[in-house]
Amino acid sequence: MLTSDRLRIVLAASEAVPFSKTGGLADVSMALARALDALGHSVTVIVPDYRQLRLAKQDQLPVVTDSGLRFSISMHGRYVTGGVNWTFLPETGIKVLLISQSDYFDRPQLYMEDGQGYQDNCARFCFFSRAVLEVCQQMVLRPDIIHCNDWQTGLIPALLHSQFAGRPAFENAASVMTLHNMAFQGRYWQPDMLLTGMDARYFNMHHMESWGDLNLLKTGISFADQITTVSPTYAQEVCTPEGGEGLDTLLSYRSDDLVGILNGIDTSIWNPASDAHLPAVYSAKEIQPGKGVCKSALQERMGLPQRDRAPLFGMVSRMSDQKGFDLVAECASRLLLDDIQIAFLGTGDPRYEDYLQHLAIENPSRVAVSIGFDEGLAHQIEAGADCFLMPSRFEPCGLNQMYSLRYGTLPIVRRIGGLADSVVDVQSESLRTGVATGFVFDDYTSPQLAETVERAVELYRQPNVWEQVMKNGMSADWSWQNSARRYVETYRRALERRHDRGADNRQ
Ligand code: ADP
Ligand code: GLC
Repeated sequence: MLTSDRLRIVLAASEAVPFSKTGGLADVSMALARALDALGHSVTVIVPDYRQLRLAKQDQLPVVTDSGLRFSISMHGRYVTGGVNWTFLPETGIKVLLISQSDYFDRPQLYMEDGQGYQDNCARFCFFSRAVLEVCQQMVLRPDIIHCNDWQTGLIPALLHSQFAGRPAFENAASVMTLHNMAFQGRYWQPDMLLTGMDARYFNMHHMESWGDLNLLKTGISFADQITTVSPTYAQEVCTPEGGEGLDTLLSYRSDDLVGILNGIDTSIWNPASDAHLPAVYSAKEIQPGKGVCKSALQERMGLPQRDRAPLFGMVSRMSDQKGFDLVAECASRLLLDDIQIAFLGTGDPRYEDYLQHLAIENPSRVAVSIGFDEGLAHQIEAGADCFLMPSRFEPCGLNQMYSLRYGTLPIVRRIGGLADSVVDVQSESLRTGVATGFVFDDYTSPQLAETVERAVELYRQPNVWEQVMKNGMSADWSWQNSARRYVETYRRALERRHDRGADNRQ
């Protein structure tokens, strides 16, 4: 690779494994960084230093050092000082910068406690976004690309376009904004404009304002040089009133700069042939006895009877309205008419946590629930279950269905977003051509979900066909390599746009 082809990429996100995680964003930000690094680009990841979390799992993390750098940002007239801790990811050239500010980030959770978002989330993430640019400047990173993710970093493209535009540190920098989830937009009341450091004139419908509020996701979409979504189908959905969550008109307007790139999965972490969380390993070539051992160990761990012939369904998820728990609740009694077992792992909305705990108490030999966040158990469910439930209301990409495919656990999904782009429904034609990988339904209704589960149970009784479908999914390539190349193309397009913008400003 020529040095001129080597991009300097700063990837800013509110979470990244192994430092912090509430959902797929954490997996994606670090896996993409690794894939870009493997393609020969220079990658720096910048995340908040949720110090309490980091210290809690210090023994599992690379050594983190204080860089000594300090900076101050005026937040609504009050100077707030931050620092930078840093580390290298082992066996890569990836530098991770952790923005520290104890009042904002030294807390038990990332965004909320007891179902309530932290009151000062706007200040926390405006500070983080502004810190990203301060740190790029002070550490002389001279990025070509600043890749922003979700509303927590939506302010960055705006700052890059305005107050940071003329600075030498950002002479050639273009921004890319990735939309992982339109349901979260970072909407705050107008006075919070004072936390952004942006001129008040940007509080208008073309830039930062939406329905009377400051909207940080809209801000990112308005100013970014390129916009991406995490699957091609979601890129279409966000341009419709149903999927755009109030921003569809803006996204349609920017559709020339909008591209959908399917997430990959980190196959060094999610690989049934080497997964250290599992009691036994297996592969598409030799599924048994490994997968069977994982199933009975999972049943034992979850307190379910160790019955190898009972189809075991798994669900690992944030417990939110997005993920289809209301559908599961509506048809649970019908599902349990079949001789199946279900293992749930998740945390979130107390309504769903309570409901599932009750379901498990009422059906102790059929339903097991673990409330909490447990990385090891998530792997064990992916491996030990026969089928994975993901009946989402909407799903920008979804990683669990891809983990399931790789682990020979047939996903049951709705035909939306990234689920539509990654699972092929079992039908006579798809079985014949060897492309069937799971079960797909269309309408967000509990009878459709129940019918689809019943279809799965029926197929489970035909072990040879079932095994073929497992193998189809296990041999598909979900690695990041292809998607990372598409991001690089997008970065280059962003640089062209940035160049055009510079030329326009000079006219
Ligand atoms: P989302 O980002 O919308 O939550 P994804 O499917 O993209 O959905 O990613 C979810 C990620 O979070 C997966 O890696 C999944 O295994 C993980 N996850 C979700 N809930 C839990 C939990 N309770 N314990 C462990 N991992 C979880
Ligand atoms: C979001 C989406 C999920 C996606 C993840 C990573 O949280 O809900 O569908 O896989 O981001 O992009």
